[in-house]
Amino acid sequence: LRLGVLHGGWSSERDVSVSSAQQVMRYIDRSAYDPIAIEIRTDHLWSVHTDEGVRTTTPSEALAQIDAALLVLHGIGGEDGIVQGLLEAHGVPYTGPKVDTSAIFMDKVLSKWQFQIHQIPTPDFVCVNRPRYLDMEDRVIADLIARLGTRAVIKPARHGSSVGVSVTTSRAEIAAGLEMAFALDDRVLVERFVHGTEVQVGILGHWSDYRVLPTLELDFRDGQTWFDHETKYGTDRSRIHFHIPARVSDQATDRLAALASDLYERYRFTGYGRFDFLVPDDGQPLLLEINTITGMTPSSTYPLMAQHAGISYPDLLSELVEQAVQ
Ligand code: DAL
Ligand code: MG
Repeated sequence: LRLGVLHGGWSSERDVSVSSAQQVMRYIDRSAYDPIAIEIRTDHLWSVHTDEGVRTTTPSEALAQIDAALLVLHGIGGEDGIVQGLLEAHGVPYTGPKVDTSAIFMDKVLSKWQFQIHQIPTPDFVCVNRPRYLDMEDRVIADLIARLGTRAVIKPARHGSSVGVSVTTSRAEIAAGLEMAFALDDRVLVERFVHGTEVQVGILGHWSDYRVLPTLELDFRDGQTWFDHETKYGTDRSRIHFHIPARVSDQATDRLAALASDLYERYRFTGYGRFDFLVPDDGQPLLLEINTITGMTPSSTYPLMAQHAGISYPDLLSELVEQAVQ
């Protein structure tokens, strides 16, 4: 099976994607698959990497050379349904969630609205659009503070890996955080900061037949208080420690699994998904966001959760591909 390993792209998470792809190319089962690294360049051309060298082509020409695609694309233009739609149009099976699920959960604001519809507990939030912000910055910030206080988390709507995210404690930091987020996206999510333990829930399989992986807890050290980009992907791993399973009550664990499973089925997830929660002191989980193409880098959490369920990294990749081509 000629398996295109699609990576790169033009999003802010391009480097994470390239790192994921290197790991995939290294560990994919070559007795079962003939992996072909296909890079989506920042200029939107595609480069096909083979033993004969690198050939730059159009997307259609690249897709004609593969039987299936393993997607290790993150962020805008890769995780948001755009490439999934292109693959559907070309009849190429691919790993992970389909077009609609990808498009909804790439956007942190759209995600929040879905959580509200289904009454999934989530931190209180405000959505800010660029035109209104540019027109009346002071008013927007005053409204935000009145609603959420100054302890807030500011996130551009359609980015991942903590790119452009800030945690604020004052009006000035909110203004700076909005500035940074609006440099990346025209829609920004501002969430109330809630104290608690971050716990991730990984699910693997088709929405009609899936497994919930053991939970993973983020345990910050050395004054680190949140999972910023440097802590996620930097070489210094001393500020973050993972506990699998998470050290939360059995009741909270059951609740986390129930909330994640409920959405997994409702939104007809295929392949996999990672649900990122916050468990405050009262033990009632709040859903922060859902990732439809999780990082596959050496420091990524999803492969660790799979490993604790007895699924090695190569087996995880094979399982995703087999599900895609079924
Ligand atoms: N957005 C990164 C890649 C993740 O969720 O793992
Ligand atoms: Mg994310």
